[in-house]
Amino acid sequence: MDKIWSGRISGSTNDFADKFTFSLETDINLYMFDIMGTAAYAAGLKKVGLISTDELLNITEGLIKVKNGIEKNKFRKNSYEDVHSLIEYELKNEIGETAGKIHTGRSRNDQIVLDEKLYLKNAIIDILEVLVELELNILELAQKNIDVVFPAYTHLQKAQPVLFSHYMLSFFEKFLRDINKLISNFKDCDFMPLGSGACAGSGYDIDRDFLCKLLKFKNKGINSMDEVSNRDYFQDFIYSLSCIMLHLSRICEDLIIYNTSEFSFIEITDEFCTGSSIMPQKKNPDILELIRGKSSLVAGNLIQFEIMQKGLPSTYNRDLQEDKGIVFNAFKESFSSVAIFKELIKNIKLNKEKIILNMKDGFLEATDIADYLVRKGETFRNSHNITGKIVKYCIEKSINLYDLDLKTLKNYSPFFGKDFFENINLNSCVDAKKTDCGTNSNSVKNNLKFSIERINIIEKEIKKLKSQVPDFKKLIKEIKYALD
Ligand code: ARG
Repeated sequence: MDKIWSGRISGSTNDFADKFTFSLETDINLYMFDIMGTAAYAAGLKKVGLISTDELLNITEGLIKVKNGIEKNKFRKNSYEDVHSLIEYELKNEIGETAGKIHTGRSRNDQIVLDEKLYLKNAIIDILEVLVELELNILELAQKNIDVVFPAYTHLQKAQPVLFSHYMLSFFEKFLRDINKLISNFKDCDFMPLGSGACAGSGYDIDRDFLCKLLKFKNKGINSMDEVSNRDYFQDFIYSLSCIMLHLSRICEDLIIYNTSEFSFIEITDEFCTGSSIMPQKKNPDILELIRGKSSLVAGNLIQFEIMQKGLPSTYNRDLQEDKGIVFNAFKESFSSVAIFKELIKNIKLNKEKIILNMKDGFLEATDIADYLVRKGETFRNSHNITGKIVKYCIEKSINLYDLDLKTLKNYSPFFGKDFFENINLNSCVDAKKTDCGTNSNSVKNNLKFSIERINIIEKEIKKLKSQVPDFKKLIKEIKYALD
């Protein structure tokens, strides 16, 4: 197949060079956006009198046929350089020479940015929707286990008792930040590039506001040289995806540990586990491990993307063609990880007896003993020291804090009184954390309510974003309507 740029090159290009430079296998994923962009652009050409009404109608009808052809796998993928050439050539097959007009004042440099931005706005919505489901499932799990006391760890050593719901809500916050990053990514990406041409702008006074309206962009790109070289929207996207994967990886690691027979805090339903080919007793948490593994792929994608751009001279360079494979991969891995994890988390069961049993040792109440003494008048430093000695005594005697009697306690400090035992148990330790970000049951209940409110606002925001992406059928209708 001829190249759209064949005039300048003598003879035909080397087969190997063709294979090396062709990108259709990857950028075919953008066909829908390229077709929508081309239809809208043709309407723009008509508006400034560069094509006639009949030609525009021909082009839109032809594009519908090309779209159907792509969806039916009608075209040989190895015969075209990229998705832009495929669409232009196949349009020519459908409608003849008029197809040669659709590139007037346009370059593949601004065309690919348009395709990518339209793709990205859709991809952001897709991952936002699945993240919201994950958040709702986290909230449901927190609500279901609102009062369960759970050991919090620091350095993977037992630290302080918290509510399991408080622990769950800690992940709600992380994913909410990711959601907000994606929403801001959508807004930063919402600049329409057409009119930038190859780099200097277009030789035709295309109505860019009209194109914005048709393609549902909020803003016009300001500087043509920036527009054709900008890939920040993709870099921000991969960064957000890498954060999601990082957060998933951390919660997966927790759950893998809590799922071991040594901990047995949780049970993952069989549906989401795998067996071993040799050890019949095994029920492995492979999905959690795979998500943890895939997080490294997406982190790698972020670095790949940064290095691809580093040191590129202004404006468009072919290196940028490599951007799509990286982004598509990061999206695929992240989307499938969130999608499966949200189902898995919905189905985990807490093994409450094991959790209670586990909290019997580990001196989770130690900070509260120090706080108790402070409330009685001791300095915190002395209280810390006294409590440390009591813990040491318990370890030597192989007993727990709640096995101590008042007489022994008094040997360590005269401040200990009868009220010690009602103050120092796991539930009162939880409620003793008074701050509104802490684990006391009132704060957790308030935060749960606040989280539900925040996710409801996000759901409304996503609905709004959905109205800010073009739909193929509606676009064609709008183009026809604009003709009247
Ligand atoms: N396939 C190219 C890309 O993805 C499209 C732009 C090509 N531009 C060019 N001047 N060769 O970046």
